[in-house]
Parts: sequence; C-alpha cells; structure tokens
Amino acid sequence: MHLDEFLAPKILIVSGKGGVGKTTVAAALAVVAARHGHRVCIAEVDRKGTMPKLFGATDIDYKPREMSPGIYGMSIVPDEALAEYLDVQYHMKRVSRVFTSSHFVDYITATAPGLKDILVLGKIWYLEQGRTGPQFDTIILDAPAAGHMLTFLSAPMGLSDAVRAGPLHRQADWLVQMLRDPRRARVHLVTLAEEMPISETLETMEVLHNRIQIDTGPVFANAVYPAHLTTADVKRMDEILDDGALDELTTAAEAVGLRLEDEDLQALAGYARFITARRAIQVKHLRKLKQGTQDPIVELPFLFTAGLALPGVEEIADSIEEGVAKL
Ligand SMILES: Nc1ncnc2c1ncn2[C@@H]1O[C@H](COP(=O)(O)OP(=O)(O)OP(=O)(O)O)[C@@H](O)[C@H]1O
Ligand SMILES: [Mg+2]
Repeated sequence: MHLDEFLAPKILIVSGKGGVGKTTVAAALAVVAARHGHRVCIAEVDRKGTMPKLFGATDIDYKPREMSPGIYGMSIVPDEALAEYLDVQYHMKRVSRVFTSSHFVDYITATAPGLKDILVLGKIWYLEQGRTGPQFDTIILDAPAAGHMLTFLSAPMGLSDAVRAGPLHRQADWLVQMLRDPRRARVHLVTLAEEMPISETLETMEVLHNRIQIDTGPVFANAVYPAHLTTADVKRMDEILDDGALDELTTAAEAVGLRLEDEDLQALAGYARFITARRAIQVKHLRKLKQGTQDPIVELPFLFTAGLALPGVEEIADSIEEGVAKL
C-alpha cells in the first residue's frame, strides 16, 4: 500500500489493551506522517504524559504545541473542550468559565456519563474541520484502552438516539458521520503477540465493525522478537555446547572481532534459546490473529532499549513504513 493511501484518513485512532504500546505506536505513526510532509497533531486523552516524553517535550496542554518539527502534541481535557464548545457555539466566553469549572463538569458528566466522551470527540471534529486553532493534515488520537474506547466511540450514537431533534442531535450525527466515513477516520489496534491481548483484539474488532461501524486496520503486532536463529540453529548450537566443542564457537566469534570466554558463550547461548523459544510462541499466537481477522497485520520489532525515546520511536516508524509498503 502506498503511504498516501495509508495516510488518507485525517483521523487515526490508536487503541488496544493496556500497556501494549499504544502511545509508542501513536508516536511512531506521527513520525511516519511527518516524514511524509504532513502537519501532525497527536492528542492524548489519558493525561498520562507518556507521549510528550517520547518527543523530549516536558509537558503539553490543551493548545497544540510543536514537540518536534511538524509534530504537535496536545492533551484533550473535557473541561477545556466544553469551554471551547460554548465559546464557538454560543459565544459564551466569559460566562463559560462558571460552567466549565471542574466541579461543574464533574457534576454534568456524572449526570450524563457519555458527555465527557462527546466533548473529546467534538474537539477532534473541530481539529478535523480546522474550525479552531492550527490546521493539521493528520490527527492521531492516543485513545483509551480498548474497553473504554468502545464506550468512547459509541457515545455520539447514544446521544443521537437520546436526543431526537435540535442542535445536539445534529452535532451528535456529525460525529457519527465522521467516525463512520473510512475516508475520514480509522482505528488501528495495537496488540502484543500473546494470548490475552490477541483474543481481546479480535473481540474489539468485531464490536468496532458491527456496532460502531468504523474502518479498522492494519493491526500492529508490537514487540515481536527478531528471527535471528531458527530452532534448527539452536539445536546445532546446543550440540556444540554439549560436545564441549567450544573452540568452534570462540573461533567463529573471533572471526567477527569478538573475544569471548566460555562463560560469555554459555550466557549468550541461554539468551539465544530464550529469544528463539519466545519467538516461536509469538509466531503461534500471531497465526491465531491472522486467522481471526481480514485486516492486514504489521509486525513491529521488540526494541532492546530501556525506556523508549525518539530513536526507538523512529525505528518503529521505519518498520511501519516497511510493513505498509508490503501490504
Ligand atoms: N516495540 C517495543 N519494544 C520494546 N519496548 C516497547 C515497545 N513498545 C512499547 N514498549 C515499552 O512498553 C511500555 C508500554 O508502552 P506504551 O506506553 O506505549 O503502552 P500503552 O499501551 O500506551 O500503555 P498504557 O495502556 O499505559 O497507556 C513502555 O515502557 C514502552 O517503552
Ligand atoms: Mg499510553
């Protein structure tokens, strides 16, 4: 698939089970879009603050701020979204301060639980339409974890059903139309190549298609171990170690400029066994994912760096570009 096609919808929503790499993948997608000349906004909704850190930015707030060339970060906070809505809709700038105090927002969102989600989606709509603030070519939503994301995306349908006429009904319908148009919005699920995240991904996908009716894919299978050795290679390595014929390995290592002691070799062999066994399990789980969905799957590598930062995100962006080009 050409990147133009991949990046055609302006809104890319990234979700998945907790801790699978949603924020990392959202950041990498932003890098891909920016490399392609797009002006990108990544919106965080969980206020965890992980996303700005990946770009070396200290903090972000409601107003989009450039974190890296062409990549803006913002945090969508419901009270600010409500203030903006009242201002744009009813020119209630001064009065809105009273309505949008955190207490008031907590009160009304407790009365109408979907409202917070509507406000966040409404802000995405403003960003998409370029109604307020800077213009963006791509808007990436670092969305809540899968369970909450489904409630979040269903909120406009709920409001549209509950309020049968008038401006609120119309506006809720605009959000539904935005989400259901594959030329405007798409969900990317992120998963690990493990049993639980994969079954959750397949369940989420079904709800996204049947109930929300939003376009999905490719799915990102994150943190997949490299295929350096085959199981046959590991078997051969074990035979060498069992025979005590370590010279063969030390000589091979010396040939590439490495001087290894016996203990180093044993440790490396243990590590190679671990990675190869883990990868074999991951491949088995990925097969199940492939059987369960029509959507293509793009594998992203496990990165052996403690606490990912921009270089790691760039590496994942490279893999997304390669993976998408092969689709
Ligand atoms: N491909 C990868 N290789 C190695 N580590 C990774 C990879 N992707 C993510 N991580 C690490 O896994 C952890 C979780 O990643 P991340 O914060 O992106 O997940 P998340 O799904 O956004 O989590 P949360 O549900 O808490 O928002 C982080 O420490 C991140 O650095
Ligand atoms: Mg996150």
